[in-house]
Amino acid sequence: MLARGLSFSVFLAVGGLIGAVVAAWPGALVGVVLMALIAFYLDALRLLRLRGWLIKLSSLERADDTQVEVLPEPPAGAGLLGEMADRVHRLLRWRLRAQRESRLRLQEMFAAIQASPNGVILLDAQGRIEWCNQTAAGHLGLDAARDVRQHVAHLIRDPVFNAYVAAADFSAPVTISGRESTPSRPVRLSLQVHPYGQGQRLLLSRDVTLIEQAEAMRRDFVANVSHELRTPLTVLSGFVETLQTLELPPQDVRRYLGLMATQSDRMQTLVNDLLTLSRLEGSPLPSLDDRVGVDTLLAQCEIDAGALLPNMGRMDHVVEFVQEAPAQLAGVATELQSALSNLVSNAIRYTPAEGRVAVSWKLLPDGSGEFSVQDNGPGIAAEHLPRLTERFYRVDRSRSRDSGGTGLGLAIVKHVVQRHGAVLHIESEPGRGSRFSIVFPASRVHRLDAPQDLKAA
Ligand SMILES: Nc1ncnc2c1ncn2[C@@H]1O[C@H](COP(=O)(O)OP(=O)(O)OP(=O)(O)O)[C@@H](O)[C@H]1O
Ligand SMILES: [Mg+2]
Repeated sequence: MLARGLSFSVFLAVGGLIGAVVAAWPGALVGVVLMALIAFYLDALRLLRLRGWLIKLSSLERADDTQVEVLPEPPAGAGLLGEMADRVHRLLRWRLRAQRESRLRLQEMFAAIQASPNGVILLDAQGRIEWCNQTAAGHLGLDAARDVRQHVAHLIRDPVFNAYVAAADFSAPVTISGRESTPSRPVRLSLQVHPYGQGQRLLLSRDVTLIEQAEAMRRDFVANVSHELRTPLTVLSGFVETLQTLELPPQDVRRYLGLMATQSDRMQTLVNDLLTLSRLEGSPLPSLDDRVGVDTLLAQCEIDAGALLPNMGRMDHVVEFVQEAPAQLAGVATELQSALSNLVSNAIRYTPAEGRVAVSWKLLPDGSGEFSVQDNGPGIAAEHLPRLTERFYRVDRSRSRDSGGTGLGLAIVKHVVQRHGAVLHIESEPGRGSRFSIVFPASRVHRLDAPQDLKAA
């Protein structure tokens, strides 16, 4: 301020001096007035430029996403006005930077909420939607843009949810059926309201279909295991009671003990199969480095089949083994063996007298390998096919149980197949036999050179 006063005085003094030199006292007066006027207009000019710059700034301010880079430079100039412009410029740059950073943070936060597998809906104090992510929109059939400011209870028309909102007790979630839920493909959603801020609420939605299914499966599984164990146990305890209370001739005792042994074998098989399944679920994926020869697997299947045929009274069956191309499979030998033997034993068990079972291995053109078991048995009706690999699923419960089946065989096969990246195909038609095949991916099939045929059993 002092400098500005001094420079103005010097300016006037120079004007007065020049005027005095040119025309004595009157000249000095004219010089001072002239210089004062010049100084005034120069100042006014600078103020006008400053005003123009401020108008430009305020027009930018109104645009939402002003960038620091597009801020106009302040009008050049020293002195008080120059310094003022400079300070305003710096303040504005700082504010724009801070604004940009907070906008970016907000965008990142919304992007993170968008990426959430859970649905998020922000509600105002009146229960109107302020914002929702795509997951919530998908879960509840909302339109993230169109439904803003709509009352949530008008959009989620589910009596359970409406009662939940009306009761205003949000201590626990509520579960409703999803918009796309059908009896064959149920979709279950868990919704919970969390109050926050000043009356606002956060509504979270979560797809709990798989959790509910797993829970139902667990319940079914326990019920099935108990049921499967109860039958042989009832038989066993009946025989024990008979043996304890009655004086029986030795041949009857032997017969009863034989029947008891069958039942305990059945329980043992069930427990072993359950343990196999849980081992398969818990163990790491089979490596690509351990290999087993397909001929070894087929030879063991042949031994197993040879033992099963007389046991099942199927001596009139013809079981053929054909290996079209020698190869090795990468995977866990015991698991592969159990899967292949399971298919062979099913074919033998469920094919009545004088059946033909063909077991074969061949390489497919894309380098994958197919193991197949074909029989000319009774076949399976189409409605059973999708459920065959479920635990304890049997087409004909009594027939399967008579043959000692627990209904876990194909569940084990499916697990082994999945763990080895293979695919299980089941083709069957009532009266025309069945064909079960496992196609192993090329990455697990190693071709060996000379072809060889295994003998027919
Ligand atoms: N080759 C087949 N021909 C006809 N039905 C079959 C054949 N293979 C399987 N099934 C049917 O599929 C059902 C399920 O087979 P799975 O091998 O899982 O169980 P299981 O043979 O009953 O018992 P487990 O194999 O555990 O001893 C069988 O009960 C049977 O009804
Ligand atoms: Mg079986």
